[in-house]
Amino acid sequence: MNVYEAIQSRKSIRSYDTKKIEDEKLGKILEAGRLAPSWQNKQCWQYVIVKDKDTIGKLALRSGLISKSNFFIKDAPVVIVACANPNDSGHLNGQDYYLVDVAISFQQMMLAAWEMGIGSCWLGAFNEEKVREILGIPSKIKVVALSPFGYPKDKQSLYAKAIKTFAGSKKRKNLDKIVHWEKW
Ligand SMILES: Cc1cc2nc3c(=O)[nH]c(=O)nc-3n(C[C@H](O)[C@H](O)[C@H](O)COP(=O)(O)O)c2cc1C
Repeated sequence: MNVYEAIQSRKSIRSYDTKKIEDEKLGKILEAGRLAPSWQNKQCWQYVIVKDKDTIGKLALRSGLISKSNFFIKDAPVVIVACANPNDSGHLNGQDYYLVDVAISFQQMMLAAWEMGIGSCWLGAFNEEKVREILGIPSKIKVVALSPFGYPKDKQSLYAKAIKTFAGSKKRKNLDKIVHWEKW
C-alpha cells in the first residue's frame, strides 16, 4: 500500500479485535509520529502509550464527554494519548501551533498504522481533566487527542455503524466547495 492508497482507504475504526500489536509495528507507528514536521522543528508532542488493560478500561469508562461515549476503545490493545507542551511550539495570527504540530504527527502515526492493517480513531471529545487524572499528566501539558490502535474486528459493532451514519463519515465535500483557484 502506498501513501495515496493509505489515504484513500483509511477510515475510523470503532470495533477492535483484542489481538496484540507487535512491538516492531508499534515502534514504526511511533517513529512515524516522531518524524513529523513542526513549528521551528521544536517537536512539542508528548505521547502516552497505554497497553495496561485496567488503564484502558478506565479511559473507556471515564474519558468520554457524554456518558460512556468512548467505551468502544475498551478492546483495543493500545491507546495512544497525544499531548503537547505548548511552550515548545508557537502562536501566531491567533493560532496555537501546538495543535497543528500534534495533528500532523498523530495523523502520520494513523496512516503508518493503517498501512500495516492497524486501525485507529481520532477522539477529540474527551474530558481533559479525567484523562489527566487517570494518566498523571502534568497541568502544563495539554491533551490534544487520544486514539485506540488495534486490528479492526471483521464485524463492526452496532455502535460503530451508528456513529458512522450519524457523523456521515463516508461523505466528503466536492473539490469545488473547498478549493479556490487563484483568488478566494
Ligand atoms: C478533530 C477530530 C475529532 C474527532 N472526534 C471524534 C470523537 O470524539 N469520537 C469519534 O467517534 N470520532 C471522532 N472523530 C472521527 C470523525 O468522526 C471521523 O474522522 C469522520 O467522521 C470521518 O470518518 P472517517 O475517519 O471514517 O473517514 C474525530 C475526528 C477529528 C479529526
